Amino acid sequence: MTRTVYVNGEYLPETEAKVSIFDRGFLMADAVYEVTSVLGGKLIDFEGHAVRLKRSLDELDMQEPCTKDELLAIHRKLVELNDIDEGMIYLQVTRGSDGDRDFVFPDPETTKPTIVLFTQNKPGLADSPASKKGAKIISIEDIRWGRRDIKTVQLLYPSMGKMMAKAAGADDAWMVEDGYVTEGTSNNAYYVKNGKIITRPLSNDILHGITRKAVLRLAQEAQMEIEERLFTIDEAKEADEAFTTSASAFVMPVVEIDGAMLGDGTPGPIAKRLREIYLDESRKAAI
Ligand code: PDD
Repeated sequence: MTRTVYVNGEYLPETEAKVSIFDRGFLMADAVYEVTSVLGGKLIDFEGHAVRLKRSLDELDMQEPCTKDELLAIHRKLVELNDIDEGMIYLQVTRGSDGDRDFVFPDPETTKPTIVLFTQNKPGLADSPASKKGAKIISIEDIRWGRRDIKTVQLLYPSMGKMMAKAAGADDAWMVEDGYVTEGTSNNAYYVKNGKIITRPLSNDILHGITRKAVLRLAQEAQMEIEERLFTIDEAKEADEAFTTSASAFVMPVVEIDGAMLGDGTPGPIAKRLREIYLDESRKAAI
């Protein structure tokens, strides 16, 4: 089925949607993005993603392409037009195109941002076989730039990280900087020891995950113990269990780190419980 996508005010078949070759998103990775999941045809944590998008744009001195209400309407219309029950909506905003290549930012008065949205249909996303099996993780060095709190489209190294994981027979990679785990290639990272959930505190070193925020709130409400601090891969390898969070995979249990099996090698009880609670609560709050 040909998707209907959104580009700069128009809903078009994906085959007809076009962006300039001079677009700064294409030439300079001068662009930010969001991924919002859809469950039961409704948006999960739209508000959180809209607020983070605004923050990313502000940090890069980029214009907002439209209001939050317009953004919500576009998301909803794409879900409807593409008949999405479970899946994701990808949104990207770039600094636009001034018809040439220049390192200097174009004048925002004359060059408007480019906005693109498309859907990804993923039936069975909430009940994915991968989440029942759990993920095998390898560790890799974190060589990304220093503003990982801004959700830019500079995803080459995370892509390479996933390829390194694949080549090693694993599912994903956690990145390590100065001896401490920062985050996964496309998710936030946690381990559990003696019932306590350990995760890195927020800073410019990691993306401030929307799922992270919701999951930590739900964990607290469920009287689970949480400690936000730096941790090493060696600590995580000794964990009772581990997991990651992201809008595209919710709470994903981790069953192996650098070849060390965690617990009995199956998804741990805290990760499973948090996934359940997160999915239940998200469905209730979806809009
Ligand atoms: N990735 N850390 C990184 C580096 C990420 O790319 C992501 C999200 C997260 C989790 O953030 P959130 O809970 O807001 O999705 C953490 C998205 C899903 C992606 O690139 O597809």
